[in-house]
Amino acid sequence: MPPDGGPDRPCRSPFLDNSGCLRYKQKPLGILKCWKDEGTGWTMAEVIDGNRIAQAVRDEVRTQAFELKEKKGITPGLAVILVGDDPASKIYVGRKEKAAAEAGFLSREFRLPAETTEDRLREIVAGLNADSSIHGILVQLPLPKHINPDVVIETIDPRKDVDGFHPVNIGGLFTGRPGHRACTPLGVIELLDRTGIPIEGKEAVIVGRSNIVGKPLALMLLNRHATVTICHTRTKDLGAVARRADILVAAAGRAEMVRGDMVKDGAVVVDVGINRRADGKLVGDVAFAEAAAKASYITPVPGGVGPMTIAMLLRNTLGAAQQKAQAR
Ligand code: GUN
Repeated sequence: MPPDGGPDRPCRSPFLDNSGCLRYKQKPLGILKCWKDEGTGWTMAEVIDGNRIAQAVRDEVRTQAFELKEKKGITPGLAVILVGDDPASKIYVGRKEKAAAEAGFLSREFRLPAETTEDRLREIVAGLNADSSIHGILVQLPLPKHINPDVVIETIDPRKDVDGFHPVNIGGLFTGRPGHRACTPLGVIELLDRTGIPIEGKEAVIVGRSNIVGKPLALMLLNRHATVTICHTRTKDLGAVARRADILVAAAGRAEMVRGDMVKDGAVVVDVGINRRADGKLVGDVAFAEAAAKASYITPVPGGVGPMTIAMLLRNTLGAAQQKAQAR
């Protein structure tokens, strides 16, 4: 079946006419482009520009951080801890530190050797809990095998747990109470909101049940009144469940596992994955071209959800500093 916008079917996009021409003069913030398949000439999904939306969030955070400093004399402080030398973690941590500095935050970095003991790491965290210049503490995961991440995360003061991983914050998400929320799922919600995609009443399907993305995102979507299904490796007919989705989120950690035939016509496809293919290309958990032929909106990899994680980390840290200012 040809995708919408082709010669035989009306275009589903509010921004395009039936020939695939742009109907609007100014694209909404965060729409990167309307994709056209070179082979068929059919209009494809609108590609959501995560870089641009993340930059908008970061600009807001920077302005508010400046105000907090001017009015209350408080500079948001973020401590980032990396244990060991996992190359991917090194890159992520470097980006987080750079983003914090660009937002006008105090940024403290801890690069610890892989042999660091759990007790030593907890000591450092306890020191940061007591440090009034630090409002957010992030321990980059994964940790070396001899360190139990749960024990370390539980050492972080929940008010400074800007990753939203502490059981107190997870409990807050579960029961709808205030607290920090995990950055990547928060970024997914922000992308949808800023693109003007409604969540309430929609059928949302998440492929992946990790503690960092799948599970917290399910609760966030549920709190926004979506009907939520989580799929995983033992889901019987993944394709059939995925095809029910108005909002389909791929967060399984497997390169290009969500194929075009798993996407309902007009669905919104959000790709949380980032994988390196054997040929060296960075790809998501979604087979992009296939899914873009069916979706109304889609996030690219890279440049989709990824940049949002850091933007939301900054916003959580700013929020922690603002809370502290209010409590004074
Ligand atoms: N490793 C992969 N994603 C994350 C994240 O969001 N926070 C931390 N601390 N570690 C991670």
